[in-house]
Amino acid sequence: MTRHFTTIEQLSQHDLKRIYKHATSPFNDETLKGQGVALVFERPSLRTRASSSSAVHELGGYVTFFSDEEIGLDSRESAEDIGRTLSEMYSMCAMRVRNHMVFSRIRAATRERMSLVNLLSDVAHPTQAVADVLTIAEHFSDGDVSKLAGLKVAYVGDATNVTRSLAVALLRLGVNVTVGAPQGYQLVAGGEEDPARVSGGGTLVVSDSPGDAVRDADVVYTDAWVSMGFEAETEQRRRDLTPFRLDRALLERAKPGAMVLHCLPAHRGDEITDDVLDSAQSLVWRQVYHRRSAMLGVLRWIKEGTND
Ligand code: CP
Ligand code: NVA
Repeated sequence: MTRHFTTIEQLSQHDLKRIYKHATSPFNDETLKGQGVALVFERPSLRTRASSSSAVHELGGYVTFFSDEEIGLDSRESAEDIGRTLSEMYSMCAMRVRNHMVFSRIRAATRERMSLVNLLSDVAHPTQAVADVLTIAEHFSDGDVSKLAGLKVAYVGDATNVTRSLAVALLRLGVNVTVGAPQGYQLVAGGEEDPARVSGGGTLVVSDSPGDAVRDADVVYTDAWVSMGFEAETEQRRRDLTPFRLDRALLERAKPGAMVLHCLPAHRGDEITDDVLDSAQSLVWRQVYHRRSAMLGVLRWIKEGTND
């Protein structure tokens, strides 16, 4: 069966466990020996492209990069025809897309012949969430993701694609999640990767007060105020989100010694200040490190379950 990794929500507990295990266990295999992975990016990237490329290479494979400028997804030709074409030459395609629906369209068009990996869409950033979980576990539970239950993670700012995948992943591990965002920027219920649908794990609380959101938090997380595609709203977003800036004063309202995460790129002085991002409480560079671990986990999990 062809495996896909497009949201955290779609994965069983068993799948997730395997991904976390594959991400961190030592290995000496050539899972992707001689195989190509197509990387399609409709939006810019540094960490995701770097971690995907290096993980594929480490597993013995190679990547081919396609920018939207070159292939024109749904402009030069349809997403379906792009999928059909790539599936003649690649068994795996990792994509950063504007519209999450592209994944189901390509799955249908290729009759599930090619595994898809979501490298960020409008609603989810699941490889980032795997890296975030690995980072939090490394700090709080000696790397054991099954021992995170009861921790409190507060997210402040615009509730983005990153927030959705992060919250789903943490709630599934029994972590309590609070999302502090102003009206109009809070989590939207429904659609794919919906944290409100996770049951039986941690608790999800939403708040329009940044101070309330971070109270007693072990971890405080933030992301850009202006996600890719929202550039026209930059000034309005700055005005609306300023009270949610992660600065020293806000961090001091969390638990003493609370750790800070940010998926990057950071907009220093907007959603986060230098003295927080560059402080000893910041885990952002471990997050970056774990982007590669996360990709290794996802790729190995896909190959483990996919018949060639
Ligand atoms: N965090 C993240 O996905 O970074 P890039 O957009 O640079 O890939
Ligand atoms: N929410 C951000 C994440 C960037 C990694 C965006 O979509 O632009």
